[in-house]
Amino acid sequence: MKELHLQTTVKVYSYEELEPTLAQLVDIAKQKTQDAYCPYSHFHVGAAVLLADGQIVTGANQENAAYPSGLCAERTALFAANANHPNTPVVALALACYTNGHFTKDVASPCGACRQVMLETEHRFAKPMKVILYSETACYVFDNATDLLPMSFVAENLLG
Ligand code: THU
Repeated sequence: MKELHLQTTVKVYSYEELEPTLAQLVDIAKQKTQDAYCPYSHFHVGAAVLLADGQIVTGANQENAAYPSGLCAERTALFAANANHPNTPVVALALACYTNGHFTKDVASPCGACRQVMLETEHRFAKPMKVILYSETACYVFDNATDLLPMSFVAENLLG
């Protein structure tokens, strides 16, 4: 038996330390929390996606009375970006969460399904996608989606 140790890196910034392009993306993700449709969880999530040509596509979580039919903010934004700009790489995604009258004090980590979709987008365009998670106390920056999902299922796995 041997053990494999998986490593990942996250850079922790204050909001003020973020480079201007990423700070702007965070600002937009924060604004988008207001457009969440979340009558069941009251957990407002906003996402902003930066494309390689500078365009920004946004998203917000969309809930449903049939709970599993809803979708997270990240996937609304990424699917909109990929459907409307299929040839333009995504270079960054910012996320912000708002509940109980304030943005979350700690970063909320994207769910597994959203990480998988981030990874697919990163592979599809063969370009690293930064992921910025905003909170009131810190901003976590991942240099690429792969760092958020070590040991992931990827297209090569389908080859057996
Ligand atoms: N949610 C997101 O939009 N993104 C995440 O990364 C985690 C959770 C949404 C789904 C649901 O509408 C609400 O937050 C509570 O889980």
